[in-house]
Amino acid sequence: MCNLTKGYAMSEQKNDPATLTVDGKTVELPVYNASVGPSVIDVRKLYAQTGHFTYDPGFTSTAACDSDITYIDGDKGELLYRGYPIDQLADDSHFLEVCYLLLYGELPDKAQMEDFESRVTNHTMLHEQMTNFYRGFRRDGHPMAIMVGVVGALSAFYHDSTDITDPQQREIASIRMIAKMPTIAAWAYKYSIGQPFVYPRNDLDYASNFLHMCFSVPCEEYKVDPIMAQAMDRIMTLHADHEQNASTSTVRLAGSSDANPFACIAAGVACLWGPAHGGANEAALNMLHEIGTPDQIPEYIARAKDKDDPFRLMGFGHRVYKNYDPRAKVMQQTAKEVLELVGVENSPILQVAQELEKIALEDPYFVERKLYPNVDFYSGIVLSAMGFPTSMFTAIFATSRTVGWIAQWKEMISDPGQRIGRPRQLYTGASHRDYMAVEKR
Ligand code: CMC
Repeated sequence: MCNLTKGYAMSEQKNDPATLTVDGKTVELPVYNASVGPSVIDVRKLYAQTGHFTYDPGFTSTAACDSDITYIDGDKGELLYRGYPIDQLADDSHFLEVCYLLLYGELPDKAQMEDFESRVTNHTMLHEQMTNFYRGFRRDGHPMAIMVGVVGALSAFYHDSTDITDPQQREIASIRMIAKMPTIAAWAYKYSIGQPFVYPRNDLDYASNFLHMCFSVPCEEYKVDPIMAQAMDRIMTLHADHEQNASTSTVRLAGSSDANPFACIAAGVACLWGPAHGGANEAALNMLHEIGTPDQIPEYIARAKDKDDPFRLMGFGHRVYKNYDPRAKVMQQTAKEVLELVGVENSPILQVAQELEKIALEDPYFVERKLYPNVDFYSGIVLSAMGFPTSMFTAIFATSRTVGWIAQWKEMISDPGQRIGRPRQLYTGASHRDYMAVEKR
């Protein structure tokens, strides 16, 4: 058995190689085992050996890197951060501890945790000049549009942490982004509703501080409800990382060109915005509102199954999970707790969601395709009950995922085998032809 580790030497390989015959030529391809999960066939020399590329749009069978951070077993419905199951972390840990775990690989001891917490809380403020930057946006700008811009602009404000060859600067940039992301998202929200920016409070924990910056106003005292803070912390923990998803791969690809970390994370925010990815929580809640009452559900199920209708059940299905998304289970419980706290435990939206889930899970179309609720199915209900408008949902996802993006980016930068990402293509356009002057066309 051999594992592909950083700086792996080919001579250490012990597995039988895979063989491939193409154009009458047989080549051997090394096979590496993962610590858990499927092994991989190394095709890096395939082009040199055969003149052929592999073809895998959507990367359904392609591992683009090796990583120690997060593992998903899609068939079991299991998600592990550094080996720890997500439900244990959601129940017993807290977001900043999870950040430490993702970034440094192990759970911290007490002193390490205190040091990390103090480093993060010392970086929560934004450069004051950034308030002018916010004012350049239209008031009705989507918070994600503002976040893409502001996160990218961090590199214009924090020059002293953009040298990616310096591990110290990489570390400071990482801490800065984890610390400032809640402030950036909360200010995008405040700006969109015409309220003054609320500065961070370093005596509050990470989740409570975020709620404070979103919901407090200067003219009255705002007390963060501990159940709300716990729910926020859990949402952040559940979204912290998810191995090589579209936005994380975007961050890695951007980072592979040695772009500065703020630019890479801005690229991740942009990718996350799409409704097939992080934008699904917004789309899922909008869909539940549109369905409105349980009696409308059959019509929407029929539409989701109709190949001629582009409608899909938002918050359902996943590229990797072919079982119940473990994050959705935690989120469903959190939804019940928060709805009870705000006195709407019998909310029509929750009823529609539960009924829709029940019907879909029994319907052969969904059963055969292994389409289960994903994390976004319930997260919108929770965030809405907490008082967030739908436009903030993906911004909160981006805030939570920042640590995962950074952990993956740091892992990539410190890998000596790292090269610029450069996929190849199956060209299907015109072959060589000569230019013709316009009057001759
Ligand atoms: N509703 C109805 N049919 C669906 C759905 C859905 N939500 N999702 C997949 N299908 C069908 C699809 O039509 C296809 O059917 P057929 O084999 O007959 O052509 C089959 O299931 C496989 O779908 P796919 O599009 O090939 O699967 P994918 O792995 O490319 O897409 C997905 C995964 C998440 C983009 C997709 O399931 C989807 O669009 N879901 C709704 C959006 C959503 O909830 N996204 C959040 C994902 S979790 C959070 C995150 O990671 O960002």
